[in-house]
Amino acid sequence: MPFGGGAHMCLGLHFAMMVMKVLLHHVVARYRLEPLPGPTHDWQPWPIARPRDGLRLEMRRIC
Ligand code: HEM
Repeated sequence: MPFGGGAHMCLGLHFAMMVMKVLLHHVVARYRLEPLPGPTHDWQPWPIARPRDGLRLEMRRIC
């Protein structure tokens, strides 16, 4: 529930999601992302969904 819920749910959630998608577009358009060997990728659902032990990536610029 990264943006909360109910009466005081985040007012900027749609703007924030758009900004994150624009950022993600710029990253995937310019870099190749490869996961590095490391800890198992268990899922942690709370408070913000993410791999429990992080997710180490190698970024290589492709253009
Ligand atoms: C990744 C970005 C963001 C996250 C994770 C986030 C998260 C949250 C959370 C957890 C709350 C509390 C919700 C609750 O009490 O239930 C909140 C409230 C709020 N957020 Fe965000 N937020 C983000 C970006 C933004 C942006 C960009 C804006 C404005 C442009 C914004 C404006 C607000 C406002 C005005 C509230 C108060 C709403 C109220 O009390 O009625 N947030 N946000």
